[in-house]
Amino acid sequence: MSTYVVVGLQWGDEGKGKITDVLAEKSDYVVRYQGGNNAGHTVYVGEDKFILHLLPSGVLQCKGKCIIGNGVVVNPEAFFNEIEQIEKRGLNTDHVFISSRAHIIMPYHILLDTYREEFAGSSQIGTTKRGIGPCYEDKISRTGIRAIDLLNPEVLKTKIKENLNVKNVLFEKLFNKEPLKFDDIYTKYLEFGKKLKNRIIDSEYEINHAIKEDKNVLFEGAQALMLDIDFGTYPYVTSSSPTTGGTTVGAGVPPTSLKNLIGVSKAYCTRVGNGAFPTELENETGELIRKIGNEYGASTGRPRRCGWLDLVALRYSCMINGITHLVITKLDVLSDFDKIKVGTAYKTPEGTITDIFPSTIEELANYEVIYQDLDGWKEDISKVTSYEELPILAKKYLEFIENFLGVQIYLVSVGPERSQNIIKSNLK
Ligand code: GDP
Ligand code: IMO
Ligand code: MG
Repeated sequence: MSTYVVVGLQWGDEGKGKITDVLAEKSDYVVRYQGGNNAGHTVYVGEDKFILHLLPSGVLQCKGKCIIGNGVVVNPEAFFNEIEQIEKRGLNTDHVFISSRAHIIMPYHILLDTYREEFAGSSQIGTTKRGIGPCYEDKISRTGIRAIDLLNPEVLKTKIKENLNVKNVLFEKLFNKEPLKFDDIYTKYLEFGKKLKNRIIDSEYEINHAIKEDKNVLFEGAQALMLDIDFGTYPYVTSSSPTTGGTTVGAGVPPTSLKNLIGVSKAYCTRVGNGAFPTELENETGELIRKIGNEYGASTGRPRRCGWLDLVALRYSCMINGITHLVITKLDVLSDFDKIKVGTAYKTPEGTITDIFPSTIEELANYEVIYQDLDGWKEDISKVTSYEELPILAKKYLEFIENFLGVQIYLVSVGPERSQNIIKSNLK
C-alpha cells in the first residue's frame, strides 16, 4: 500500500487521465488537488470515451472514494453536469466528495476571465475561459467563496453581495458590460449547496487517515509543470501549482507522505493556448503529428500546437517535481517517422550553449534549440504488451530519454485504450 502522485511534465494533455484510470483500479482514494474544469482528461474503455474535467479520472475504476481536494476550484454547474453524464452511462458517483475548503467558481469569475481575454487583444493568454484564474485570485485576496459557505445562507448572502459590489463596478466601468444581479446568483448557489450537502467533507482528515491506515492513495494532477504559476512559461500559465509539491497544499498532506512521484510526458510535445514553445513545428511535420496523434483539446476542441520532445524543459520539470518514475505516452504516434528529433540544449543569441530552462519567455523566444537526431522504428507498436517486444530503435529512443533525465521509465503507453500499456519497471 502506498501513495502515488501523477503529474504532467509538459504543457498539459500528456495522458494523465489515462494513467490515473489505470492506477485507480488498485486505489482506495483518488484525489484531485489543483485546477478545475479547465482540465480535460480522456479515458477510453474499449471504444467508449470518457472526458473528465472536474471529477478525478479515478471515478470510473476506483472502488473507494474520489475526492475533489481543497486546492481545486469547483464550478458546481460543471460538477453536476459531469455527474449526470457519468451516471447516464450506468456508473455510480456516490463515492465522489468535495473538500469543504475548495473554492467555488462563481458566474462573475467566468465573465471576468472572458472579458479580460477580450480586453487583452493580441496578448491574451488563451485561457479556457472557465473562470479558473479569477477564482484563484479571490482565494488569494481572501474574498473567495468556499464549498462550505454554500451551506450557510447568511454567509453566502454577505459574500456574494460583497463580491458583486466590486465586480459589478469592473463590469460596468471597465468592460462596458451589464452588471450581474444578486438574486439570480444567490438563489442558484443556495440550491447548489442543498444538492451538494452530502458530498462536502473535511477531506484533509479523511485523506490523512487513509494514509495512516496504509491505504492506496492516488493524487491526480491537472495541467502540467510548464503551465505552473511559478515555474511555467509565465505569464502564459494557469493559476495553480500542478506540481508534486502542489499536492501538499492542495490536499493537506505532508511531503513525507508522498512516495511514488510519477511524471507523465508525451514522446513529443504539444501545447494548447498561447505562449513560448521552443520545439514547436509550424510546418508539415507538426501537422502530421497533430493528425496522427489526434491533437485537439479535450476541453475546448482547439488544435494543439505540436513539436519535438524538449529534454531541457523535461529535465527541469523532473527536477522541480522530484520525479521518481516516468511515464512516456503516445510513443505509437511516432511510428511513422524516419528520423525523430529531440531537443537537448538551447543556444543563446550570443552563441552560448545552455541546458538551463530560463525564467523569462523573452529569453526563451530568442533561444535556438539544439537537436539530436534519432532513428525512427517505422513499425506499428500499438499492440505491443512487453518492453522486450518493442523494436530496438524504439527502446533506444526510450533509453535516450531515461539517460538524459536520469529517471527510470515505469510505463510506456502505446495507444489510448486502458490496456495499451507496457510496464517497464515497478512502482514503490
Ligand atoms: P490529459 O489531460 O493529460 O489527461 O490528456 P488528454 O486526455 O487531454 O489528452 C491525451 C490524449 O491522448 C487523449 O485523447 C488520450 O485518449 C490520448 N492518449 C493517451 N495515451 C495515448 C497513447 O499512448 N497513444 C495514443 N495514440 N493516444 C493516447
Ligand atoms: P489538462 O489537465 C492543456 C492552458 C490554457 C491556457 C492556460 C491558462 O487537460 O492537461 P486557464 O483556463 O487554466 O487559466 O488557462 O493553460 N490549460 C491547459 N492546457 N491542458 C490543460 O489541462 C490545461 N488547462 C489549462 O489553454 O493556455
Ligand atoms: Mg487534457
